[in-house]
Amino acid sequence: MTIQSTAQSIFITGTDTDVGKTYVCALLLKQFNQQGQPAIGYKPIAAGAQQTPDGLRNDDALILQQASSGNPSYQTINPICYEPAIAPHIAAAMVGESMSIEQLNQWWQQRDQQYEIEIIEGAGGWRLPINDNQWLSEFVIDQKLDVIIVVGMKLGCLNHALLTVEAVKNDGLNVIGWIANQLSEPMPYYQTNLDYLIKNMPAPMLGEVNSNQQAKPKLFDLAHFS
Ligand SMILES: Nc1ncnc2c1ncn2[C@@H]1O[C@H](COP(=O)(O)OP(=O)(O)OP(=O)(O)O)[C@@H](O)[C@H]1O
Ligand SMILES: [Mg+2]
Repeated sequence: MTIQSTAQSIFITGTDTDVGKTYVCALLLKQFNQQGQPAIGYKPIAAGAQQTPDGLRNDDALILQQASSGNPSYQTINPICYEPAIAPHIAAAMVGESMSIEQLNQWWQQRDQQYEIEIIEGAGGWRLPINDNQWLSEFVIDQKLDVIIVVGMKLGCLNHALLTVEAVKNDGLNVIGWIANQLSEPMPYYQTNLDYLIKNMPAPMLGEVNSNQQAKPKLFDLAHFS
């Protein structure tokens, strides 16, 4: 299928941590790059990283770097990185640092804007604290980014999906749509749950990702993109 899209910055959130945000981001980047639209993936905040001779490296950011067009540097993809694999604001405090929305806004304004598509992976779910007084969602609001919600298809996801889309919309943002991601553990009554979401989510389903590591042929319906 052909994706119709102009320059766009898309924030990828999820129903929870570990629901396949990075997995879906990599698939989206691949789809855009394969059809000749240069796309880059960002992981603005990462917690959980290995020390290497080149500095801290986070697995999500490495996956996004690999899937991005034009060999961007690691620092370009992931400006804020902490070693402990815990909530990022706690990880920051543990190493005597802090982060803020102002810092993220400044990073965003100074980024290289040569890409047609920018995919920004969040951390955790929608209301992710970045310090005691601010959430990552405030950065998305400040920059008016369009949002895609990755729904990790497991027990509890109906509640998480409905609450997430409600919160994003209440924050005044455009939800392009949501993606059903079947995790490696098959969900009992998958199709029944999916049908419920299709009927009740106030945003279009952009596609399903199956759990055998392979995207379905007509994966993302990006006709909804601007
Ligand atoms: N559709 C899928 N098929 C197979 N494996 C998957 C699929 N989706 C996710 N996974 C695997 O599940 C794990 C969690 O996925 P992923 O890292 O993409 O989640 P995440 O939401 O980005 O997590 P985090 O909140 O840590 O950023 C990874 O090992 C990933 O490879
Ligand atoms: Mg991730």
